[in-house]
Amino acid sequence: MSASITTHVSNYGEKYGDPSHTMKALTWQGTGRVKVVETASPKIIDPGDVILQVTGSTICGSDLHLLHGAIPELQKGDILGHEFCGIVVSVGPDVKKVKVGNRAVASFQIACGECYYCKQGLATMCERTNTGESATKLYGRKTSGFFGYSHFTGGFAGGQAEYVRVPYGDVNLLHLPDNIPDEKGLYLSDVLGTSWNAVVDTGVKEGDTVAIWGAGPVGQMAAEFSFFHGAKRVILIDGGQGKWRLDFVKKVLPKLETIDFTNLPTGESVAFTLKKMCDGRGPDVAIECAAGEYSKGWAHYFQRLLGMETDTSELVNEMLTSVRGFGRCGITGVYAGYCNHFNIGALMETGVKLSGNGQAPVQKYWKELLKYVQEDKIHPLHMVTHRLRLEDMEKVYDLFDKREPGMQKVFIQTRFSAPPSPGAPALTLI
Ligand SMILES: NC(=O)c1ccc[n+]([C@@H]2O[C@H](COP(=O)([O-])OP(=O)(O)OC[C@H]3O[C@@H](n4cnc5c(N)ncnc54)[C@H](O)[C@@H]3O)[C@@H](O)[C@H]2O)c1
Ligand SMILES: [Zn+2]
Ligand SMILES: [Zn+2]
Repeated sequence: MSASITTHVSNYGEKYGDPSHTMKALTWQGTGRVKVVETASPKIIDPGDVILQVTGSTICGSDLHLLHGAIPELQKGDILGHEFCGIVVSVGPDVKKVKVGNRAVASFQIACGECYYCKQGLATMCERTNTGESATKLYGRKTSGFFGYSHFTGGFAGGQAEYVRVPYGDVNLLHLPDNIPDEKGLYLSDVLGTSWNAVVDTGVKEGDTVAIWGAGPVGQMAAEFSFFHGAKRVILIDGGQGKWRLDFVKKVLPKLETIDFTNLPTGESVAFTLKKMCDGRGPDVAIECAAGEYSKGWAHYFQRLLGMETDTSELVNEMLTSVRGFGRCGITGVYAGYCNHFNIGALMETGVKLSGNGQAPVQKYWKELLKYVQEDKIHPLHMVTHRLRLEDMEKVYDLFDKREPGMQKVFIQTRFSAPPSPGAPALTLI
């Protein structure tokens, strides 16, 4: 297999695409603006490439960070989308396992399968798929390439499109068996593996009490997976525009307890409430599924606005001060860089551990999770509320950004999608 791939192909254009064969794709047009355009479809560039005809796509909380301009190095015209599945329409000469006609889901990360990290199943740290240097300057090391996620992560065109180029296709595609419809298989791209990583890497075990910040799709599945791993209690926290999600998740998981942080008695913080609910000591585990761009108070709102920090420390401080001594905290919500007022004392003095962080290496889990979906042990459809069209993607960004009541996770169809499968939502025109 070839040791390097062509990066910074975030829109195929004349050089890397076929302008005589156009497709619809959702593109970034500047902070707060996205647009569905007609653009060149992809061609094989590197020998390990696969071209996938997209039959299912979606939007993620991570796409909102791109919309808001919270992630650096986006360029006008970049095709977004890092969760997609489809049918293989062509393969490069080095592709051995994947065959034309296969139905497959892609991982949000682009891995080579052979480097130091890939060999250990840590695909989000692949050393070969992101040639940019900015992350190294900021983090001391870089992540792998990601689909549709800025030039900071390699500049790869994404899958909110009718076709997509999948580099190292043998590594970054998982075959979907016939008994797994797209509406279930699609979410192996990201949200299932991400929530699973958050739960297993913070070490959730039998009898634990787990508190989760953010009741979006990732927080919802982290709650379901915490119970799956034997948690005795799971407490989900959200508020404001997202508060309806607390009731939505509770309907699926009746044992769930919830906190609406916008509706606490005066002077009572989230940490105080959690202590009160958990023997005065606090939960064993805290998992952050919200994000660093969502400041709560004015102090951090203005510090972010003025560029004095990229992320707020409020949520992480809440986690550190909520859990019991020697408890575990994991950050899955996206943080771009630096924050002020980080309570490092709470971390050091009280033995709290930070683990379960990171862009989740979903390839490490996706075969196991596919098996659980087949056995009906985990339930991606619990979070899927809508089926919408790629043509309407600009409106989808707007509604998802506003946390439209009733819209949790969506399934985006293209003109190549199969009709809705049993139990999946019918098409809504917006
Ligand atoms: N680490 C990874 O590999 C990975 C993968 C996928 C998504 N993510 C990230 O996970 C996060 C969640 O994803 P999602 O798709 O569920 O996003 P989402 O935007 O749909 O949900 C986030 C929820 O957090 C809530 N929230 C905001 N501020 C809060 C606060 N102070 N306390 C509690 N809740 C708060 C919002 O109301 C919202 O309901 C996003 O940051 C996303 O980028 C990370
Ligand atoms: Zn995502
Ligand atoms: Zn690698």
